[in-house]
Amino acid sequence: MLAELRTQARNRVPPEVWDYYEAGSGDEITVGEAEESWRSYRLRPRVLNDVSVVDLSVDLLGTRVASPFLVAPMAFHALAHPDGECATVRGAGSAGSLAVLSTRSSRTIEDVVAAATGPWWFQAYLMRDRGLTEALVQRAAAAGATAIVLTVDTPYVGRKNKVGGVRFAVPDDVYLVNLAQHLLPGAVGRDSAEQDPSMTPDVIARLADVGGLPVLVKGVLRGDEAVRCLEAGAAGVIVSGHGGRQLDRVVPSALALPEVVQAVAGRAPVLADGGIRSGLDALVALALGASAVLVGRPVLWALAAGGADAVETVLRTLADDLRHVLAVAGGRSFGDLDPGMVVPRHG
Ligand SMILES: Cc1cc2nc3c(=O)[nH]c(=O)nc-3n(C[C@H](O)[C@H](O)[C@H](O)COP(=O)(O)O)c2cc1C
Repeated sequence: MLAELRTQARNRVPPEVWDYYEAGSGDEITVGEAEESWRSYRLRPRVLNDVSVVDLSVDLLGTRVASPFLVAPMAFHALAHPDGECATVRGAGSAGSLAVLSTRSSRTIEDVVAAATGPWWFQAYLMRDRGLTEALVQRAAAAGATAIVLTVDTPYVGRKNKVGGVRFAVPDDVYLVNLAQHLLPGAVGRDSAEQDPSMTPDVIARLADVGGLPVLVKGVLRGDEAVRCLEAGAAGVIVSGHGGRQLDRVVPSALALPEVVQAVAGRAPVLADGGIRSGLDALVALALGASAVLVGRPVLWALAAGGADAVETVLRTLADDLRHVLAVAGGRSFGDLDPGMVVPRHG
């Protein structure tokens, strides 16, 4: 199903948008390895469990979500569909999922909330004008976000060889849609909205305080860094290599996850993303200790191919797939999973 969706999307969006969605940084080694890394684990199923009823719901920092497939924060959905993020959140809500809205959304927070039918989190970048980030976090909190996702793997935007290292030229009316109201007239919005490369862990507690919401830190690939985030006030971490778009050749999320889970030791939820494309990928991640997974590009493919309905369908299909493999592996809910259910292929 995903392959077909990808082809449909490719035929619908302009080539430069397609390249923007698909590209990874550098030689795209990390992009290439992401999916294969989840597939490299082998399962040790349970048997003789009554799996006639299977529950896929998860509790994430107090928010009950019917499916553990969340929508990853991604910039500029309006490039895929005229309704942009409004369509994405509608589709996610109908599928019982939770959507993470990017700082770089192409519809305002308020418009997106008006369309939302389910829970959502807001993804923050620390921008050079820190007041901009704080204003967005406050707006998101006031609008009903239940957590903030602070992305920390982007001190500078990764260079993508596929597009000659050149950043995609997003028009101002899309790029600054969430920010325009906070910028002084005549201010050079793009400079102040660039990521602040001087960010340090104190920002975690600061944003938690400003928004009055739990902060999950996204872009963690090491156990010691996860602990550093928790010590600085993070309520959770997201194991992510930014879909291979930041530092090429980073360790795939599937291989980083066990180390992070072990270091966090149950103190906070650990989520993961990058190359999650099936119920089995999610089953492996959840068995390794993830509380939920995030899906990136397939949601954009669905959005481009068929708007909110297609987003709902892709998320429902993934959940149905997971329901099936969880049951066949002997699990009634994620509480039945543990790291002993998976081994590395050659282990
Ligand atoms: C087109 C595109 C835009 C993205 N924009 C953001 C963003 O604004 N903020 C962020 O934290 N991550 C962003 N990401 C990374 C995703 O949140 C996620 O980590 C990644 O896409 C997951 O990998 P997958 O696409 O293989 O599922 C973006 C990814 C893509 C493909």
